[in-house]
Amino acid sequence: MSSVVSEDVNVISSNAETSEEDKESDDSNEEHFYENAKHYWAKIPATVDGMLGGYGFISQCDLESSARFLQSLLEAKDGPGGMRALDCGAGIGRITKHLLMKYFKVVDLVEQNKDFIEKVNEFIGPSKKLGKLYCTGLQSFVPEEKYDVIWCQWVLGHLTDEDLIKFLKLCQCALSVNGLIVIKENVTSSGEREKDHVDSSITRPFHALLDIFKSSDLRIIKMEQQTKFPKGLYPVKMFALKPNSQ
Ligand SMILES: C[S@@+](CC[C@H](N)C(=O)[O-])C[C@H]1O[C@@H](n2cnc3c(N)ncnc32)[C@H](O)[C@@H]1O
Repeated sequence: MSSVVSEDVNVISSNAETSEEDKESDDSNEEHFYENAKHYWAKIPATVDGMLGGYGFISQCDLESSARFLQSLLEAKDGPGGMRALDCGAGIGRITKHLLMKYFKVVDLVEQNKDFIEKVNEFIGPSKKLGKLYCTGLQSFVPEEKYDVIWCQWVLGHLTDEDLIKFLKLCQCALSVNGLIVIKENVTSSGEREKDHVDSSITRPFHALLDIFKSSDLRIIKMEQQTKFPKGLYPVKMFALKPNSQ
């Protein structure tokens, strides 16, 4: 992710590769950026280990921290309701099955890879809580339901800044009363953007994410750093975001 990929791997790439120039080339070669990611994910097995770049063993720890974070949001005064959630870049439904379905009556998923979407039913098993499955890239997704929580994890590095801001603005319009967008993503320690040429993604520094939230008219209402992940992985941050208009 840029994926769960170890930070050490990316740090090997030179600083020149993480410059503004890189950002521009991504944006100007947008089609390649998305196509290359598609090709990368097409070769990845539809398993938890595949979703986590070979780090399947961190799934439990990840989900436990996410559950504590989500629970605190749901229990807060003016917290989101428990009707419907959306899992973005859902893969085979790891987060839907082990987290979101425990807290919401219905969970929809959006994922660009057809094989992963086809695996969802088998991976999750029969459940009335499984809602709509959308097979499309987030860069072209327009939500049609209202959501209490929109969960985006280890996928937003696959969007250009421009598309990410557009996506976050569309998500805002799809929030129910007191609804929240939750983002759980890697951040760089270098303070620079780091490109992963293998899976075609960008890992952003903390300040770049803050700029994106600001441009998307979102404010942070809660933020935490993931703990107890193995050394060498990127730092992972969780953000709960609310539209400025609320
Ligand atoms: C690192 S996996 C994470 C999967 C899931 N969020 C999890 O944590 O188990 C990244 C997922 O994002 C999907 N993805 C990549 N680019 C995408 C895009 N532009 N729109 C939607 N999904 C995308 C991949 O196919 C893959 O399933």
